[in-house]
Amino acid sequence: LAKVEVEMANIPEGKNVIIKWRGKPVFIRHRTPEEIEEANSVDVKALRDPQTDEARTKQPEWLVMLGVCTHLGCVPIGESGDYGGWFCPCHGSHYDISGRIRAGPAPTNLEIPEYTIDEGAGKIVV
Ligand code: FES
Repeated sequence: LAKVEVEMANIPEGKNVIIKWRGKPVFIRHRTPEEIEEANSVDVKALRDPQTDEARTKQPEWLVMLGVCTHLGCVPIGESGDYGGWFCPCHGSHYDISGRIRAGPAPTNLEIPEYTIDEGAGKIVV
């Protein structure tokens, strides 16, 4: 199946890009040290869908996830919502900077697709 390659050098720290993969949006965020710290400061046990940030990333600087709200499939908006991450305007789900559901009707965290980070080539391959 088709793979998509993204040049990491084209995504500055603190920025999101959205790529299309098998007809779905994939969000890639180059996270800042502050964002990584925030993602790790959350009490995982208190989450609706308890997942550590470490379990959701291969490298903490890079967050790669499907841009499909786990409620009814709208595309959440980046850099918005009450938890510093994504906000789904359809019914008001708030996701944090690790893409974990924090408020609203979505049952689970934004899904992490299969991907690899090719350090040598400076590419993320989804
Ligand atoms: Fe996102 Fe309903 S589809 S909150």
